[in-house]
Amino acid sequence: MRRIGILTAGGDTPALNATIHGAVVRANALKIEVYGIIKGFSGMLNPRVPHVHLNPLFSTIPELSPVVGGTLLGASRTYIHAHDHETVQEVACRLEKLGIEGLICIGGDGTINGMQPLSDCFPTVLGPKTIDNDLGLNYAEEATEWMREAGPAAGRFTYRKLPGRPEMELEEIINYATPGYATAVYVAAASGIQRIRTTAESHRRIAIVEVMGRDSGYIALGSAYGQPDIILVPEVPLNYHRFEQRVRELYELQKHVVIVVGEGVVDEQGQSLGAISKSTDPAGNVTFSGAADALKQMLCKTIGDDYFVERRRNESADSAVFTRKLGHTQRGGRPILFDRFHASQLGGKAVDVLVEGFNNCVVTLQWTAGRGFYVDSIAANKLRDQWGIIHPRQLHHSLYDPHRFQPSRLGVEFLLPIFTNAIGADDLEEVRLHQFNPGNLTRRYQSVNVDIQKRLRYL
Ligand code: F6P
Repeated sequence: MRRIGILTAGGDTPALNATIHGAVVRANALKIEVYGIIKGFSGMLNPRVPHVHLNPLFSTIPELSPVVGGTLLGASRTYIHAHDHETVQEVACRLEKLGIEGLICIGGDGTINGMQPLSDCFPTVLGPKTIDNDLGLNYAEEATEWMREAGPAAGRFTYRKLPGRPEMELEEIINYATPGYATAVYVAAASGIQRIRTTAESHRRIAIVEVMGRDSGYIALGSAYGQPDIILVPEVPLNYHRFEQRVRELYELQKHVVIVVGEGVVDEQGQSLGAISKSTDPAGNVTFSGAADALKQMLCKTIGDDYFVERRRNESADSAVFTRKLGHTQRGGRPILFDRFHASQLGGKAVDVLVEGFNNCVVTLQWTAGRGFYVDSIAANKLRDQWGIIHPRQLHHSLYDPHRFQPSRLGVEFLLPIFTNAIGADDLEEVRLHQFNPGNLTRRYQSVNVDIQKRLRYL
């Protein structure tokens, strides 16, 4: 193999550049050229295929830094549809003209689905990334534990996860942690929950912190490192009565409560909490306020003003309960050591897998007690259900204790290998040296996009 392509698709994560860097370093050693395709799949849909040569003379370009978050190639959520044969052929033809003999797509479940049709034309491999940690399986046969039902429109289906096995072993997990997850949890625990705690405590308030993760509760679970009083995950429908009771107990005891809610949390009817609390913006449009705001409204209604007026000297429930959405801060910035290291290893492995002649596969990060973390690969098909769909991995029920609203014993055991030593000394030194660098006050931010623009090539 003499030349490969690489692209980053889907939402960004802090470890994308680290994965690209790992791939380029390995390609340098094997004397393979690497072309980075700009803005994910949309770069290949452009007839001129904007791209960057990432390793001229087999040395890595200086703009590619594994300690910088985001992606120097740019990313998009544009995908190629499997049934669009014409587009697939056009893309294959363009890549062939570019001399690309294999393609690494760095992304999540949407990216594999976009990669699948291309794998009929040339070798492809997926380098995983997602802060949601939802690309993988809790155990191999989980892929087929889905039910398909006819949807409201003809030819459309809805998929429902079957209960599956009540227990699992950590060593069975396929793709233990995806690059970006550790950094997102670090942001949620440290900047989100721990910093909000002191305000809640000082002002006798109830704080509700909403974390990302879509329908998967891994970020919420990991946020336990910030010691929230209550964690709500999307996989366990909210028992509101039990929840409110726990909030009252905690408020009586410590005069404040910190709650973490995964954005995809659902009620006992399976309705997304974020979608049921509707309000209208100034223009009269209906807006969905999100899970944290919905919970706040529910607490204000059921606990009521009188409770807080009595305990907080005439303050209403509305001012006693406050919400914070951590949002994209979880996806950005410098990746912590765990993400950087393993993302780089996965990037290198992706090159090896292509060179070894595999196609349509995914490189994975595995863990066993004996070996610790190591990289491996698996056929992408192993992640698909019987209808060919890749579903986001859900937090296995055995990792969460719904009675205590905290990680279960196994949940704690799951987190330990990832987060013990996840932060490097250099991560802390970076803060010490650069956060208040006087130069920040006078120098403009230098965007990598400007430098990459100068290196752009076209077909
Ligand atoms: O999948 C990653 C993720 O960050 C989710 O946790 C979140 O719901 C979503 O992407 C946000 O997407 P966007 O950046 O398009 O708002």
